[in-house]
Amino acid sequence: MLKKLDKVQKEALAALDKAQDELALQQWGTLHIGRKSALMEIFIGMGKLSEEERPQVGRKANEVKQALENALEARTFELKQEAIKTSLESELLDVTLPGRDQTRGRLHPTTQTMRRIYSIFAEMGFQVYLSRDVETDEHNFQLLNFPPHHPARDMQDSFYTTNPGVILRTHTSPGQIRAMREYSEENPENPPPVRIILPGMCYRYEQVTARSEMQFTQVEGLAVGYNITFGDLKGTLTDFARRYFDPNVRTRFRASYFPFTEPSAEMDVECFVCGGGGCTVCKKTGWLEILGSGMVHPMVLRNGGYDPEVYSGFAFGMGPERLTMLRHRVDDIRNFWRNDLRFLEQF
Ligand code: DAH
Repeated sequence: MLKKLDKVQKEALAALDKAQDELALQQWGTLHIGRKSALMEIFIGMGKLSEEERPQVGRKANEVKQALENALEARTFELKQEAIKTSLESELLDVTLPGRDQTRGRLHPTTQTMRRIYSIFAEMGFQVYLSRDVETDEHNFQLLNFPPHHPARDMQDSFYTTNPGVILRTHTSPGQIRAMREYSEENPENPPPVRIILPGMCYRYEQVTARSEMQFTQVEGLAVGYNITFGDLKGTLTDFARRYFDPNVRTRFRASYFPFTEPSAEMDVECFVCGGGGCTVCKKTGWLEILGSGMVHPMVLRNGGYDPEVYSGFAFGMGPERLTMLRHRVDDIRNFWRNDLRFLEQF
């Protein structure tokens, strides 16, 4: 009987080594230490043993039972450890690898340029005035001294709406009229002088090419007050160019024509690509045109509610996309609406 117990123990331990998972362990328990196991049968059959055999077999059977229970516990623990180890190995982490960059949002290059323009003019005392994108033909053209059928209208082909006389603004200049009418002697909250910039989107019904888009931004400027002269215009815009491009940049004013200013001028900056020597960016002229400007036309002052005998003013308009293109040598304006991250991420 004692030998039989040894055999039971040996066989059970050997079987336990082969158990590889929880289910196998359960089955092993039923088979080797369960109620119908060989071991339990020995316990049950003990009553039939002789007086002297019984205590020996009893002790031995208890020892075997204890040994098997301990072995089961040990094997259970061992299998759990193995499972943890394999799962750790499969998730091997190389702590020496460099981290991944967070993808961060950024401002569109046009927005960045606009903000630089705002801050430069803010330092010079200009406030931002927001005017509407949807305009009347009257504000966009007539009050700015473009009479109906005036050929200058052809320079700015409009997007019309289904409302007669309502269009998308082709430039930010109509905001001049709205602002002047709001900043008046009669309005104690906004008395003159007017010193504002008017940023915003403009729309032109145009063929989209590398040089022209049908949607683009402009920043308009307007100063109206007593004794404002062309000298103020030149000083303000030259200072702007120096702050925007380079403190030593050279500028020049060329006579031009806009219906809403008289006299009118365009401002050029010396080409910063070739330093004025002539290259493909400046088309061999040595100069880059950056904005239109002029003294506010008497008709426009009057339409804004200002007596041209008493007041004078200057105005200007520039294109942030164009400024961005010049500064960063972008050769195709369509990039600004393409939403191609390879382009946008460079700014
Ligand atoms: N509105 C003009 C355009 O879109 C730009 C411009 C020129 C604005 C001269 C002005 C100005 O205020 O004085 O082409």
